[in-house]
Amino acid sequence: MENADIEQKVAGHYTQGNVVNRIVEALGLEPDKQGQVSVETLFPVDQLHHGGVALTEKMAEHAGMCTGMKVLNAGSGIGGAARFLVDRFGCEVDAIDLSEEYVSSAQALDKFVGLTGRIMHRVGSVTELPFPGEAFDVVWCQNVTMNVPDKTAMFAEAYRVLREGGVYVLSHLGESKRGTMDYPLPWAMTAETSFASPPDTMLQLLADAGFHRVTNHGPDAPSPPLPSSPTGRPQDMFAMGDDMPQRRANVAHAVADGRLVPMLITAYR
Ligand SMILES: C[S@@+](CC[C@H](N)C(=O)[O-])C[C@H]1O[C@@H](n2cnc3c(N)ncnc32)[C@H](O)[C@@H]1O
Repeated sequence: MENADIEQKVAGHYTQGNVVNRIVEALGLEPDKQGQVSVETLFPVDQLHHGGVALTEKMAEHAGMCTGMKVLNAGSGIGGAARFLVDRFGCEVDAIDLSEEYVSSAQALDKFVGLTGRIMHRVGSVTELPFPGEAFDVVWCQNVTMNVPDKTAMFAEAYRVLREGGVYVLSHLGESKRGTMDYPLPWAMTAETSFASPPDTMLQLLADAGFHRVTNHGPDAPSPPLPSSPTGRPQDMFAMGDDMPQRRANVAHAVADGRLVPMLITAYR
């Protein structure tokens, strides 16, 4: 399949049709309370990656986030991490995602928490970034790489837009052995759009792109919780689909028996 066809399929995978309405209804957000909702209120529904906000916090710690940093949220979903980074660190955040619905949902959710205009959201691909070189201190990328076949292009673009000394921080789930996964998974219903490169390949591709100090902090990061865990029930089905409990369970079992390896990577330009 051509790259453009894959991206079209991936964008379709992340299109539900009614994300914001479902979130508004589930959380009981009243339209006249726009601007008065806390960023934390949205955490159960807007962190579309294993480990929820605990993973986001751990990534911020490893990336050394601090006040005023310029961040590109690459594959930003419905804007969960972008809002976290603005709210917690006062970062300046640009966000880009393939899914038009996710981008408009992110903008609608920004309004509820009073962050309208603070995050520049746009539709686009991490393999062809519409930004000048050396524009960011941090490129932040959570659970996106498993949908991207051309990681050489993706990593080259991250390298190009980072300033010297800037950090690329990624979370990823890597297949230890190709062809052993049970589908559906959160990021793909079949193997056709799953590109969960093995851990060693990820680290090598980052080094090949020119990054240095490429480090996996995976063992220090929150793992996908087992379905029986009380923290294993994020409300990500509004953005991701009603079968998310099954898809998350497939991930949790694959992590538990070593077929999938959770990674938290930092790499410096
Ligand atoms: C599992 S979701 C994670 C969303 C967000 N990073 C988060 O953790 O909340 C994967 C996201 O990657 C986006 N994505 C996948 N391939 C992409 C690409 N080539 N360019 C931009 N976004 C992409 C999808 O549209 C989706 O929003």
